[in-house]
Formats: sequence, structure tokens, C-alpha cells
Amino acid sequence: MIITIDGPAAAGKGTLAASISKKYNYAYFDTGMVYRAVGLEMHLQNKDLSDQAAALQISQNLTFEHMHELAKNPDFRSALGGKNASIVSAYPEVRKALLKMQQDFAQNPVFADGRPAKGVVYDGRDTGTVVCPQADVKFFITASPEVRAERRYKEFLQKGISANYEDVLADVKARDERDANRATAPMKPAADAVIFDTSTLTIPEVLQKACEVIDEKQNH
Ligand code: C5P
Repeated sequence: MIITIDGPAAAGKGTLAASISKKYNYAYFDTGMVYRAVGLEMHLQNKDLSDQAAALQISQNLTFEHMHELAKNPDFRSALGGKNASIVSAYPEVRKALLKMQQDFAQNPVFADGRPAKGVVYDGRDTGTVVCPQADVKFFITASPEVRAERRYKEFLQKGISANYEDVLADVKARDERDANRATAPMKPAADAVIFDTSTLTIPEVLQKACEVIDEKQNH
């Protein structure tokens, strides 16, 4: 079983994906990690973010193991890490180089401890359209930029990361703009995706609705 959850930053994809993978005992692939890894590696190697050749080389050499190693760096999940990921993810060659690694996971999904899983939940921007167009169930989760910025802002404060709401909102809007307008794999719902707006639905409500869709699929 392959389930994809796409949508803009801070719409609630990660929470939903983690809840679904736990409930059904499926592996989880947060595909934003591949772009965060490339963005962070560019920063660590003192490369200019506009250097597409460097970003491509880093992408071609990225392994699943190194990505998880980089994820331990505090900058991986910071606002800077998100911004850098968003910039490198707009490079078509970078996306192409990172596609196989994401697709391979569906052939052989594993949990963090290496145990094989019977299914996988992907979360990202293009997992239902480009990474796994063959997915069994596809969701697209969205919410207004203001609601998403408010959530991100509170998340930063909870993690002890200093943040300013207006800056977070500007960043959310800039990332939306880049994700929606890039030439390769722009963020859009797959034609067969079920769309949820979490500005008006709580995460438990979305989880319940999503489980109804998954159960329906499994029963047929
Ligand atoms: O989801 P997350 O915030 O970790 O993603 C970081 C950045 O990576 C996003 O802003 C987006 O630009 C990019 N991304 C993407 N395609 C994906 C997942 C993430 O372009 N499938």
C-alpha cells in the first residue's frame, strides 16, 4: 500500500503522515528531507545557493544514510534549512537526481530500525504526481498562509528557536510561490487526490477522514 500526502509547508502533512504510518504500521518517507539535506550540505561546503552545478553534484552523491546523518544538525529543521531546501528544490536537475532514491523506497519500504514494512506513507509536494503516481491513496493537505505561518511560528517557539511571525509568514508565502511556480514538478494536487483544508478542519478530524478513505481502499 502506497499513500501520498502532498501540500504546502505547515499544512499538517507531517503530523498526518506520522499518525497514518503509526496507525497502519507503515514506513514513512518525509521527502522534504532530501532537499533539506542538499540545502544543508551546500551551506556546510560554503557553496553559493545559486551554484546549480554544486547542488547537482551533492544530489548525485546523496545517500539515504548521509541524509539521516545530516538530519541531526540543528540547521536541518531551522527556518534557514527550509529556505535553502526550497531554493535547491527548484533546480530541475537536482529534482531529477533525487527522484530515484525517493521512488526506490516504495519498492522496499523499511522502518527507521531497518525492519521491512508492508506499506509506505510519503509526504512532500510532488509525491502523488511525480514520485509515486501509482500510489493507492493520495491526499492533498492545505490551509491558508496565515494559519500555516501561525503554526510554524508556534513550532519554532516551542523548540526554543527565536522567530518573528511576520518573517515566518513572508517565508511561507515565498516558499508557496517557489513550489507552485517552478518549472519541474510544481506543487499541485494529483487529479485523483482527496483534498483537505486544515484551516477549517482539526488534525484529528483530518486523520479520521483520511482513515475512512484508506479503509475504504483496503476493503476493496
Ligand atoms: O516539507 P519540508 O518543509 O521539509 O520541505 C522543504 C522544502 O523542500 C520545501 O519548501 C519544498 O520547496 C521542497 N520540497 C519539494 N518537493 C518535495 C518535498 C519538499 O520541492 N516532495
